[in-house]
Amino acid sequence: MTHPQSPTSADIGIIGLGVMGANLGLNIAEQGFSVVGYDRNPEKGTRLAQMAQEQLPKGASVEACNDIQSLIASLRQPRIILLLVPAGDPVDGVIQDLGPCLEQGDILIDGGNSHFRDTDRRIQTLAQQNIHFVGMGVSGGEDGARHGPSMMPGGDSTAWERLRPMLEAAAAKVGEEPCVDWLGRGSAGHYVKMVHNGIEYSLMQLITESYDLMYRGLGLSHEKMHPIYESWAQGPMGGFLLEITADILLQRDPLGEGYLLDNILDTAHQKGTGQWTSQESFTLQTPTPLIDIAVTQRVLSAIKAQRQQASQLLKGPSEMMPVHREAFLTQLGNALQMAMQLTYAQGMHLLQVANQHYDYHLSLETVTRIWRGGCIIRSQLLEQLRAVYQRDPSLINPILDTTYAATIAQNHADLREVVCAASYWGIPAPGLMTALSYYDSYRGAWLPANLLQAQRDYFGGHTFQRTDREGNFHVEWSKNK
Ligand code: 6PG
Repeated sequence: MTHPQSPTSADIGIIGLGVMGANLGLNIAEQGFSVVGYDRNPEKGTRLAQMAQEQLPKGASVEACNDIQSLIASLRQPRIILLLVPAGDPVDGVIQDLGPCLEQGDILIDGGNSHFRDTDRRIQTLAQQNIHFVGMGVSGGEDGARHGPSMMPGGDSTAWERLRPMLEAAAAKVGEEPCVDWLGRGSAGHYVKMVHNGIEYSLMQLITESYDLMYRGLGLSHEKMHPIYESWAQGPMGGFLLEITADILLQRDPLGEGYLLDNILDTAHQKGTGQWTSQESFTLQTPTPLIDIAVTQRVLSAIKAQRQQASQLLKGPSEMMPVHREAFLTQLGNALQMAMQLTYAQGMHLLQVANQHYDYHLSLETVTRIWRGGCIIRSQLLEQLRAVYQRDPSLINPILDTTYAATIAQNHADLREVVCAASYWGIPAPGLMTALSYYDSYRGAWLPANLLQAQRDYFGGHTFQRTDREGNFHVEWSKNK
């Protein structure tokens, strides 16, 4: 590990040299910017220096520092410092350590999955010292960080012009367009990343259901499923998550026989961003049931001991309803596409409501543009969503766009067939079923909430409104006992 040769010259300092910090550091250095890094675990600094030596061309500048003070002293002023430490207390801890060293005009970027309310708090606190705090979602995992992530910065906009050349150079590109842009005020960047992750949870859940329906429903082997995912990945709903699913299916187990997937325990973990999205959807009264059910299924998968007990107690169907395999596979692909489109729509709906509620000044067209490359939810489907916001930037829910609505509606009969098969087979498909219920509810010009209101008034005198006149009404309900 070396100290920078020329103090006060580095373009950016990175604190936190884990997978994301180290790889993003190498990426930025490869674009011609000088990078200094610090991690409280010195081995990570040594590793960064090694990686730089192995991977970067001569002349690229990456140095690891022994402490925060050396990192600060190495940076050109006003400084740019990127934090890639775990969300929560570690971010506040680093901000506290940096506090005395920072000066007016310095830019501090939090590139982790921080909760947007923490970001708002940090922006306000640091603004008192005239320090520009930027909450930036970074998506794409290790490979994205190294070769081009999607980045979602927001907060203090005076920082953007200084950050722009570096972030645009490091970001993924779709054609000529970099997958980064200034998203808006306050916690806009972290809010958008939270919704990105909510969408990610739902897409992953839907793909697992399609796998289950083929695996247990049709009895298809990994070899048979692989080309199906490959063809879906190249079609209109194609994207990163379908591509990696095709790869995963053929991965052999390095520690045993057969395919690795068959030896992975069926209990999902989560770090909370999907749950935050659902919580926000309730706070802002904006339905995102596909995201909610994806969070629930992760929780349900994790209580395996209970599931095992219940599997001995609860009966399912006694025989498998036969289907025409080829026809079912076409229906399944169309159903998956429709459920994915509805997932994106729910995420965008939440973003549009949040945009108004928190006064973010977001452009949803920009969001869809920078999600088309580099991030986990990148997909062909984002092109049609982008077109929706090019037509109407303030549309509340993309389903209300005639063209988008038509592309969703064309597959509803296939989704119904798939949901029926899942139900007859006793194979859980809660994401696909929720997609269909949401579709039928959202297009429901009438819903049975009249009875619900009557019940509320009956037992609690909560009043109801009428269809034929203005006002709030209450009646003494006759008790027919
Ligand atoms: C990304 C991902 C990433 C997230 C992981 C794990 O955009 O690169 O969203 O930020 O941390 O996907 O999330 P869970 O542990 O909650 O599944």
